[in-house]
Amino acid sequence: MDKPIPKVPNWRVLMNLPTIFKNPLIFHSALYDDLGDSFIVNSLNGEDLILTRSSNMIQHVLQKNHKNYQKSKFQTVDLAKYIGHGLLTTNGEHWLIHRRMIQPGFGRKKLQGLLSIIRDTVTYEVERFDTGKTVDVLPMMSDLAFQTVAKGLFSAGDIRQRMASLQEITNTAQKMLIKEVRQPYLRWWFRLSGSLERHINMGDEAREILNELVSERKSSGREEDDLLDMLLAARYEDGQPMSNRQLLDEVMILFTAGHETTANALSFTMFHIAKDKVIQQRIFDEVSHFDFGDDNLPNVFKDLTYTRQCIEEAMRLYPPAYLVDRVAINDDEVDGHKIPAGTMILLSLFELHRDDQFWKDSSSFNPDRFHTDRKSERIGRYFPFGAGPRMCVGNHFAMFEMIIAIAKIVKSYKLRCDLEHIELVPMVSLKPKEVPITFELR
Ligand code: HEM
Repeated sequence: MDKPIPKVPNWRVLMNLPTIFKNPLIFHSALYDDLGDSFIVNSLNGEDLILTRSSNMIQHVLQKNHKNYQKSKFQTVDLAKYIGHGLLTTNGEHWLIHRRMIQPGFGRKKLQGLLSIIRDTVTYEVERFDTGKTVDVLPMMSDLAFQTVAKGLFSAGDIRQRMASLQEITNTAQKMLIKEVRQPYLRWWFRLSGSLERHINMGDEAREILNELVSERKSSGREEDDLLDMLLAARYEDGQPMSNRQLLDEVMILFTAGHETTANALSFTMFHIAKDKVIQQRIFDEVSHFDFGDDNLPNVFKDLTYTRQCIEEAMRLYPPAYLVDRVAINDDEVDGHKIPAGTMILLSLFELHRDDQFWKDSSSFNPDRFHTDRKSERIGRYFPFGAGPRMCVGNHFAMFEMIIAIAKIVKSYKLRCDLEHIELVPMVSLKPKEVPITFELR
């Protein structure tokens, strides 16, 4: 039996265009309140899409019947034209072949070689924090995360200057992408005014910078234990390496997928740490005796558990990947709802993570929810890194980086924040508008 999914009338979408452009989460939240866990909305492109926060539907799409769902043109066309066709932005065979080649480079064991590089990069950034005045930590965390991926990829050499232009280019291109996706009715203008072309050309500029770095590595004949070496060493079944173009696309994608998500999660975590002295003290008690020496670094995950819980709780309230998109390949059915082939589904991780059915006092920041003894409580309800075969390939890298960053920050400084509420800015990832924090040296 078909249980129809409620549809949002088009007038309601039209009346809310300014809100949708500024912050679609507010509009979505009102619709979930009125219509339940799933609804259909017209994208104003003439296309109906399903938005869902249903735990069952999300697990069905990402895990149980993942073979029937692929990424939508938001990623494979709109995003890919800026950052290229790599792991994040492709589907089917192309994706699978490259996932098999790249994933081993991110395994826990392989990551061991990167831990000290990540620690050194984070330490360098943290030691330069300004003390005694209030600063917005989002750009600071953005630099920290960008430099960490950069060093993870290109471990040797002074790349700071070249990375600064790359960072600028990827940020500007993202703003253009958001305009395209949220204002599809203005696409003709973006094209006509030359704005679109200008931004696409920026992608080529970025690739040029990366190409230089890759060529330098190839001609040096040096071997490093970093992500670039992993990409250079990866082979297709016939023994051939990736083409230079494919390699540059994969590098661009690691930058894009890996830096902003991490920066946002760190900024949100710092907001709550700075607001709550008890939480801050608990982290300090945990990290103050931790040995950050090379040999002890792998113990970060098992020894800094409360620090990890704080980051996990921040990603519950503010999942950087707040919406995940998929398209049904064949007709399907979930919970009695028919899903025709070609339907786009937006999985609302933000809403799932705040669903009162699953999370007691869902809007409060409570890291104790993530105590290892309470693991079973979050099964099927918590997906900050996605789930199923397309789950984030960089999740261990990101968790290690974030735990080290928070540990180093709290060990060195006392944090204070006078901001009452954090304003959310949902771009390609979910960002805070600003997080003003005062640091005082301990
Ligand atoms: C807090 C930090 C991060 C969060 C919250 C995050 C979240 C996610 C999510 C939800 C997905 C799945 C998207 C989907 O199913 O459509 C994903 C995919 C991906 N992430 Fe991350 N990510 C983070 C950090 C990183 C880092 C540090 C890297 C690399 C250095 C990275 C590289 C990737 C790549 C390449 C994919 C595509 C995987 C595939 O489709 O096979 N991410 N990430």
